[in-house]
Amino acid sequence: MNVGIIGLGRYVPERVVTNFDLEKIMDTTDEWIRTRTGIEERRYADDDVNTSDMAYEAAKEALADSGIEAHQIGLILVATVTPDQPFPSVSTMIQEKLGATNAAAMDISAACAGFMYGVITAKQFVESGTYPYVLVVGVEKLTKITNFEDRNTAVLFGDGAGAAIVGEVSEGRGILSFELGADGSGGKHLTQNGPFLEMNGREVYKFAVRQMGDSAENVIAKAGLSKEEVDFLVPHQANIRIMESSRIRLGLPEEKMSTTIKQFGNTSAASIPIALKEEVLAGKVKDDDVVVLVGFGGGLTWGAICLKM
Ligand code: ACO
Repeated sequence: MNVGIIGLGRYVPERVVTNFDLEKIMDTTDEWIRTRTGIEERRYADDDVNTSDMAYEAAKEALADSGIEAHQIGLILVATVTPDQPFPSVSTMIQEKLGATNAAAMDISAACAGFMYGVITAKQFVESGTYPYVLVVGVEKLTKITNFEDRNTAVLFGDGAGAAIVGEVSEGRGILSFELGADGSGGKHLTQNGPFLEMNGREVYKFAVRQMGDSAENVIAKAGLSKEEVDFLVPHQANIRIMESSRIRLGLPEEKMSTTIKQFGNTSAASIPIALKEEVLAGKVKDDDVVVLVGFGGGLTWGAICLKM
C-alpha cells in the first residue's frame, strides 16, 4: 500500500511581530536578526488563544482539503512541546471539537521533529490496515515558554499550527522513504527547565547543519533517487543559514527551498507542515513533485521524509 498526505492545513495567529517591534522591548536589531537567522517577522497568539485552538483550526483546514469527514479519522496525533496543560492532551481536546468520535488520540513529544515523528507513526497505522486515516498536527504556542529577557532565544520563535491527513494514495506516490533518529546525549543543549526554553545556540547549530544534510541525503538514497530528481526542499524553519547548508548539499537552486521562516520565524513542530501548505498554495509544490521534508529539534531528535506529492 502507498501511504501519503491527502490533505494539508495550517493556522497562524493574526498578530504580526516584526524585528522592529522586538527592537523596542530588547537589546537587538532588525539587522542582527535578519542576517543571523533569516527572520523578518513572526506571529504571536493572543492570551486567550491556546495551543489546542490553533491545532483545531489547522486540523479543520486539513480535513476540508482531504475531503474526508471527521468520523472517518482513526487516530489523532498531535506533536507539541507547548500543550494547553500536561493532560488532557491537545489531541483529545481537538478530537472533541472536531467531532472525531471514532478516533483514538495522543500527543507526541519530539520537539521540532515532532511532525515528522507523527507522520511516520501515522504511516504505520495506515499501512497495517488499522486505521484508514490519521490526523497529524504539529502545533506550538512557543511564546508561552519564551524568555523575553533572553535575546539569544526570544527573537527566534513564533506561534502556529500545521496539519496533515495521512491516508492511502495511488501507486508510486506518497512516502517513498524516511529516517527518524534521536541522540539523548545532546538533550542538554535545548531544554525547558522551569518556565522557559533554554538553548545553547552554537551546539544546536552545529548538530543541525550536520544532521539536516545527512538525513536529507539518506532519504533520497533510500528512495532510490538521485539529488537531481528532487524538486523541492522543505526544511525545519529554524535558521536560514542551517537551511541553506542543506539546500547547497542537495545542489538545489534557491527557489526550490521553502523560506517561510521570513514571515513566521521558528514555530517548532508546526514549521514543516505550515511551510509545505504555503508552498502548495503558492504553486511551488505540485502533484508528482518529489519533496524532501527534514527536521531536527530538542531531544535531540531528527526526522526526514522523501515524499512524492
Ligand atoms: N540581537 C543582537 N545580538 C544578539 C542577539 C540578538 N537577538 N542574540 C545574540 N546576540 C549576540 C550574542 O550575545 C553574541 O554577542 P557577543 O559576541 O558579544 O557575546 C553575538 O550576538 C553572537 O552570538 P552567537 O551565539 O555567536 O550568534 P550565532 O551567529 O551563533 O547565532 C543563533 C545565534 C541564531 C541562535 C544560532 O546559533 C542558531 O540559530 N542556532 C540554532 C538554533 C536553532 O535552530 N534552534 C532550534 C531550536 S528548535 C526547538 O526545538 C524549539
